[in-house]
Order: sequence, then C-alpha cells, then structure tokens
Amino acid sequence: MRVLVTGGAGYLGACLVPQLLAAGHEVTVLDRFFFGTEPLAEYAQHPRIHLVRDDVRWCDGRVFEGQEAVVDAAALSNDPAGAMDPWRTREINYLGRVRTSRLAREAGASRYLLTSSCSIYGFQDSILTEETTPEPLTEYARANWLAEQDTLPMASPSFCPTAVRFATLYGLSPRMRFDLAVNGMVLGGVRTHRIPVMKDGTQWRPFLHVRDAARAISEVLAAPPGSVRGRVFNVGSDEQNFQVRPLAELVAAHLREPPTLEWYGDPDVRSYRVSFARARSELGFTPSLTPADAAREIEQALRADAVDTGLRTKTVEWYRHLLSDPAAADPVRLRGVVL
Ligand SMILES: NC(=O)c1ccc[n+]([C@@H]2O[C@H](COP(=O)([O-])OP(=O)(O)OC[C@H]3O[C@@H](n4cnc5c(N)ncnc54)[C@H](O)[C@@H]3O)[C@@H](O)[C@H]2O)c1
Repeated sequence: MRVLVTGGAGYLGACLVPQLLAAGHEVTVLDRFFFGTEPLAEYAQHPRIHLVRDDVRWCDGRVFEGQEAVVDAAALSNDPAGAMDPWRTREINYLGRVRTSRLAREAGASRYLLTSSCSIYGFQDSILTEETTPEPLTEYARANWLAEQDTLPMASPSFCPTAVRFATLYGLSPRMRFDLAVNGMVLGGVRTHRIPVMKDGTQWRPFLHVRDAARAISEVLAAPPGSVRGRVFNVGSDEQNFQVRPLAELVAAHLREPPTLEWYGDPDVRSYRVSFARARSELGFTPSLTPADAAREIEQALRADAVDTGLRTKTVEWYRHLLSDPAAADPVRLRGVVL
C-alpha cells in the first residue's frame, strides 16, 4: 500500500514507519518535524520513503494524491501541551485531523486511522469500554473526542475511518519521550536513583509499549474494512492497567540499582481502567511487551549513552522553547519543503 503518516517522525510514528517499510509499503511522512528529522535518519535514503515538511492545518492537498491509507499521528501530544496552548491544540488535534481525513477521502484513500487516546475517558471508576461515554477533562482529551466524532461519520462503502484509543505509551523510540510515565520513571531511577511518581499513586492508567502500538496500527490497516469501518477500538492490554504507585515499584524492581520513589504534583484528576476486549477478540491484538521490558531496554540505552535525554525529549518544554524562538516556529519558512 501507499501509506501517508502524519506526525511520522514523532514518538509513535518513528516506530511505525520502519514497520510499514519492512512490510513493503510505500510511506510518505507529512510532519512539521518539530523534533527534527533525526528520528527517521536511518531511513532517509530508503527507496520507499518520502519526507514532506508541512503542516496538517494548511498543507497542499496534493500530497494525499495516490495514497491508499492515511495514519493520522500529528498532534500536540499530551495534556501539558494542551494546557499550554489550548487553541493550537484544538487547531491541530481536532480541526487538523478533520481536515486530514477530508483530504484523504477526497483524494480517494480508502483507509483513515485516527490515533486517539484512552485519556478521553477522564475520571471514571468502572472498567471502561468503547461504549462508555467519554468524559474528557483536558483540552488534549477533548480534541481527541471531537476528532473522533467528526471523522468516524465520514465512513462510506469506499472510505473506512477507524479510531484507535491508545493506552499511555512507553518504551524506546528514535524520537524519545521522557515526559511519559514509565520512561520518566526509568530516567529518574537510573540517573538520580529517584523515581518520579505523580501523587497520589492510586490513580489507574492503562499502558502499552510503543512498538506494540505501531503493530496495532498495521493490524487495523490489514483488517477487512467491514470489521473496522467507522469504529473505535481501545488498544492496550487488560493486564497493563496499573495504579501508578505499583507501576513505579515494578519499574524499580527491574532496574540494576534499587531507587527510591519521589512524589510530585497535585493529586492526579485523571484515573481510568480500560477494557481491551474488543481489540483482542475482533482484531486478535495482544501486546507482546511490558513495562519491565521497557525498563530494561531504556536502562541499557541510558547506560550506553545511546538515547537523547535533552530538552527535545520533554515535549511541552520543547514546545515552549520553539514558541520562544519565532524563527523555529515560522510556518512559512517550514512550509511545503520536500526533503
Ligand atoms: N504517546 C502516547 O502515550 C500516546 C497515547 C495515546 C495516543 N497518542 C497519540 O498518538 C499520536 C502520536 O503521539 P506521539 O507520542 O508520537 O507524539 P509526538 O509529539 O512524539 O509526535 C507528534 C508528531 O506530530 C508532528 N506535528 C505536530 N503538529 C503538527 C502539525 N501541525 N503538522 C504536521 N506535523 C505536526 C510533530 O512534529 C511530531 O513529529 C498523537 O495523536 C497522540 O495523541 C499518543
């Protein structure tokens, strides 16, 4: 297939693109490259990859021509970024995705996959399924929910939109994110022997390894259209719903030198435990990796000095830096450059 991946140089995209190339697909990455092109450097000369530096809010629709599938992973990708800039979050994560799905449909792509998030469930006590009414509590979560509501009804016999609500991701990626819970715990544990734990530690959250998340996308793209058209799938694992404190203890137990826990923040207002039965029974999706695997691989990479730990790996802090540097944030300068 010819697959367009928006945000393809991001944390998830940089794991997905190599998988798509290995499966024989032709891949176009449409990305502002806010975190640089380095995450895809290894593939820059690959004969089936095309890198397009542009913005989903105003890019030329011709980049969609000839694409058979579009994976939409461009976003300001967490709650702090949404709080920092609610309007841009809505513009990119909601309006940008609606624009992307429209352009995909108009260009004749048959598949559109929205990378949504389980965070849209907010604070709820029961085990949450795709039928549970979302209660998004943050701008980031609201934009995901709005994007689902506008893109999924575009379903038609020739156009197959699907939303995957990912658990919180973890694990090594060529665009590393240490602002994600498990990754940040490993960084703290290895570098300072203190694992940062968000108060009060009883909040529930589902987790998923980033390479498993990328594989789930490939599985949705390969599923018969009738089974995923206009539908939502929670993507994660029932076994990886964790309360944050036991998760921190699990990470600690897999590090070479035992760290202590260090509490931070105000008590988290988000808590959700999610059922992943639909993805398991209908798509046959089960994750193969765990937070323990991530603790080991990230610790190894840190000790080998093989992973960036700089400002770029703390998403909201990096965006603040870009906003303070008008040249870096200049949309005209970055527009429409084919790399
Ligand atoms: N990481 C997680 O835990 C997680 C969990 C659930 C859902 N998701 C979803 O997965 C997707 C990818 O997240 P990620 O963790 O890879 O984030 P990321 O921040 O690492 O990557 C996002 C990418 O989008 C690009 N981008 C941002 N705005 C753009 C724009 N206007 N035009 C073009 N490109 C733009 C950035 O340059 C970056 O490469 C997002 O939709 C996110 O909501 C992620």
